[in-house]
Amino acid sequence: MVESFKKTFFITTPIYYVNDIPHIGHAYTTIIADAISRFKKLSGKDVFFLTGTDEHGQKVEKSAAEKGLKPIELADKVVFRFKNLWKTLNISYDYFIRTTQPLHEKGVQKIFQKLKEKGDIYKGIYKGYYCVSCENFLSKDVPIEEESFKTCPDCGKKAGVVSEECYFFKLAAYQKPLLEFYEQHPAFVRPQGRMNEVINFVRQGLKDLSITRTTVKWGIPVVDDSDHTIYVWFDALHNYLTGLGYDWDMKLFDKFWPATLHLIGKDILRFHAVFWPAFLIAAGFSLPQTVYGHGWWLKDKSKISKSKGNVLDPHIILNTFGADSLRYFLLREIPIGLDGNFSHEAFIHRVNSDLANDLGNLVQRTLTMIQSYFGGAIEEIDEENEGDKKIRLEFESVKENVYKYYEGYSLNKALEETWVYINSINRYLADNEPWKIARDKTKQKRLGRILYQAAAALKAISYFIFPVMPESAEKIWKYLGEEKPIQEELFTDLQFDNFKLGQKIQKPKPLFPRVNLEDFLKEEEDKSAQATKEDKMEYISFDEFKRMDLRAGEILKAEKVEGTQKLIKIEVDIGTEKRTMVAGIAEEYAPSDLVGKKLVVIINLKPAVIRGIESQAMLLAADVDGKAIIPFFIEDVPAGAKVR
Ligand code: MSP
Repeated sequence: MVESFKKTFFITTPIYYVNDIPHIGHAYTTIIADAISRFKKLSGKDVFFLTGTDEHGQKVEKSAAEKGLKPIELADKVVFRFKNLWKTLNISYDYFIRTTQPLHEKGVQKIFQKLKEKGDIYKGIYKGYYCVSCENFLSKDVPIEEESFKTCPDCGKKAGVVSEECYFFKLAAYQKPLLEFYEQHPAFVRPQGRMNEVINFVRQGLKDLSITRTTVKWGIPVVDDSDHTIYVWFDALHNYLTGLGYDWDMKLFDKFWPATLHLIGKDILRFHAVFWPAFLIAAGFSLPQTVYGHGWWLKDKSKISKSKGNVLDPHIILNTFGADSLRYFLLREIPIGLDGNFSHEAFIHRVNSDLANDLGNLVQRTLTMIQSYFGGAIEEIDEENEGDKKIRLEFESVKENVYKYYEGYSLNKALEETWVYINSINRYLADNEPWKIARDKTKQKRLGRILYQAAAALKAISYFIFPVMPESAEKIWKYLGEEKPIQEELFTDLQFDNFKLGQKIQKPKPLFPRVNLEDFLKEEEDKSAQATKEDKMEYISFDEFKRMDLRAGEILKAEKVEGTQKLIKIEVDIGTEKRTMVAGIAEEYAPSDLVGKKLVVIINLKPAVIRGIESQAMLLAADVDGKAIIPFFIEDVPAGAKVR
């Protein structure tokens, strides 16, 4: 196993615009970053994983105005959605940077001033086209033609004319240093084809880059010249420094900088492979090791994006299948350099065949047999025969290859290789027919050996899939009776024979449900119809509203409803009397946190019997992707006060 020599590993995702809520495309980049960082930890690296949100600029300013919000209000809402999605997807980032944080703004201003003092930034006039969707100046000195707009070559939208005073960054002066850098670091951009694109682009010559705006207010002001706000890409790229502690935790910064891997979509390659290293050279920072431009997820042949109106909400899939199935599908289906077409058919096919059939069944039958034939622990085993030995030797080669593939960011290959092994074990069981051997009491040790080989292989398999499917991997690992957490086992220490005899195996629960395509599509259709109905706002009259008796209530007692996951029984004081209500909030709130809190309840809703308890009132809560968030009063409101 070839290991790169540096001990630290700093990995980043792009920071996402907050003009709209996250979709599958954003989830993809972050899942890749998470899988790589989990693998790197297993291989012994000290990892720092940074993600966050890009909150300034014209695009966010415009989007907030359209929604009747202040930009920061929109940002706060969308950040909440991103963080929530990352939690559901088990994303293990170390820091979430928001470009509206003062620590970021100060860092950007400092670098801007430094470049200005150094003479790399000068004042001028920009006259040309600007694409708000890409936040991109098409280029300086483009002759303004008859039309008031041009079609953006990148996104196909209209780019309008901008004519304003601005500060320029002397990008043209960095053409030579950039070309020299690419020559010395031919793997700076990956995949290789994208490196060539970048080199060709820079060879054609670079123009100085406008890096401030006077017509955009929502941005970081230039120190001493606050009519200018800093161009959103200059602002955003520096998150990779400020999010790592630049100017506020230099110890952290010095430990991890330069970035080992900037993971981005191919749409933003030029910003990361040309502008970014030029800014860094100018300011005297060392340069990142790799910029990896991954492909796009397409739907009906066009990029999944808000502006194309073809976004896929990951929550519909996550609610039915859980995080691991989505993580697996996105990383298994395509190599990370290429584009892929997202279809529910392909998704369900993969989940049913690879997860429910191949892996799920293997776990289920191996562990169930150990339970029923050995009461959960294999104590004695036969010598290995040729077939058994093959399984152990195959482990060695699979381990070597899986490591190599993860190292090279070929996540789909690492999974493919693991599935070859899963299928070998399935075949091994089919060939050896342990269920028949079990009938012969004299062959207990032979039976032990077969199930030992399968269990030891399963332990390795759960380890190999951990970067991509952490939840399922941990479950299998625990079912096998492993005590040490999976993350504490180093890749190099993983050995076939480390699976101990006498280890107590737990009864497994099915890991992946089989889902019928038609049922799923039907359910999704119903949910989308529901969402459209919600979008279409049906009005009620004020008189109808007045029929609801809403009151301030104080929670006196709260306890979990036995035998349920989600239900809490609450006793609430509504001024004139006490009422009992049952609410599905146990996953979000502990009963003890509720007592004494004041909230809004509706008291004239027809009572309903839930789990044998009469619920005589109902609380109100925000539904955030299926999670209930209760608005509590912060002022001291008397119980019973009318809410209207
Ligand atoms: N804010 C900038 C990035 C600044 S980084 C200093 C930006 N944000 S974005 O929200 O528009 O998109 C960010 C990233 O989301 C893309 O680069 C890409 O990694 C990912 N994707 C968005 N749509 C995608 C697909 N349809 N498919 C795959 N990834 C996509 O650009």
